[in-house]
Amino acid sequence: MTLVTDVALRRVLDSRGNATVEADVHTESGGFGRAKAPSGASTGEYEAIELPASEAIASAREEAVPRLVGEVYAGDQREVDAALHAADGTDDFSQIGANSAVAISMAAAKAGADVAGLPLFQHLGGTFRGNTFPTPLGNAIGGGEHAADATDIQEFLAAPVGAPSVEEAVFANAAVHGEVADILDDRGVPCGKGDEGAWAPSIDDAAAFEIMAEAVETVGDDVGFEIRFGLDMAGAELYDDEEDGYVYGERVRDTEEQIEYVADLVDEYDLVYVEDPLDENDYEAFADLTDRVGDRTLVCGDDLFVTNVERLETGIEEGAANSILVKPNQIGTLSDAVDAVELAVENGYDQVISHRSGETEDTTIAHLAVATDAPYIKTGAVGGERTAKLNELIRIEHNA
Ligand code: PGA
Ligand code: ZN
Repeated sequence: MTLVTDVALRRVLDSRGNATVEADVHTESGGFGRAKAPSGASTGEYEAIELPASEAIASAREEAVPRLVGEVYAGDQREVDAALHAADGTDDFSQIGANSAVAISMAAAKAGADVAGLPLFQHLGGTFRGNTFPTPLGNAIGGGEHAADATDIQEFLAAPVGAPSVEEAVFANAAVHGEVADILDDRGVPCGKGDEGAWAPSIDDAAAFEIMAEAVETVGDDVGFEIRFGLDMAGAELYDDEEDGYVYGERVRDTEEQIEYVADLVDEYDLVYVEDPLDENDYEAFADLTDRVGDRTLVCGDDLFVTNVERLETGIEEGAANSILVKPNQIGTLSDAVDAVELAVENGYDQVISHRSGETEDTTIAHLAVATDAPYIKTGAVGGERTAKLNELIRIEHNA
């Protein structure tokens, strides 16, 4: 019933106005799935390769589509994803593009769910899933590679850890985002937004910490549950080989100082989450920091692990981090992403399912988070391509 009968690929817009890949998968019995690839700006060195959309589409039409149509069942995700790997023939999807691969992989999953008559999270996760919901991490202030002339740290993330429901958590994050704007306004700081919809004021990191602390406290008092905050430091972007350290404007911190700085921030601001605090090649420094603060905060590897089982294995051996960011397009298929989640969970790591800075209205990651019982999802706070996922989570919670 779920034999793939057609795969259509096209160029569509992403939230930055760039071209990305959209895939439609049709099945024998009339099943249909459509998905779009997201795209990073602060991409990890070890990610699967995103090709220009037209190139990825042309190559996938030639190499992958013939191996799918009439050959594989959309309901068998492993088979679909194995066919994508076989069609590509490299270990980083540099032939058909990770953007084509992930769009097809996710579209096939949706077609499989459609035929089965199941919500996507249940098709992916099984019948016992759908009762636990991730805490959304909401990007409220940001800079780095996502906005010019703003904070050095890439993301300041609201974390409504005490929220009684996804719905309340989503609204709390939006309220923190709004409160940050009010505080900036009071201080006379003008600002626009970065790629993920976070405020991107021209302030230093110290001011951003003050503002976040105030905003989560104010909103927390208002809603009556605990809201904390966390960071994505995008350490690989801060790290400069030639300086042999982490560059914050005029100031450079060497690795030891960076570890010390982050550990102090965790304690001073009671941070619940610190993503990529160190360079993507420095497992050892990740391990040192995890040793120091891993009992009281999530140390999460994004560019460090790139959703890659082998890199996660190294991390587990070395005690680097205690959490992994999961972005399906970093590795190219849903099966590979779920493999990373399973290895993480077996080893006591928390998985955080994540969007990219370049996004679309695709909602697959909301379902993946519920399907894998993820404790956290990182998918922004406001903006249509972000609210697409947040509103989908609310719908899943309401069984709608
Ligand atoms: P990216 O940023 O999508 O630009 O890579 C998001 C992140 O670093 O988590
Ligand atoms: Zn990151």
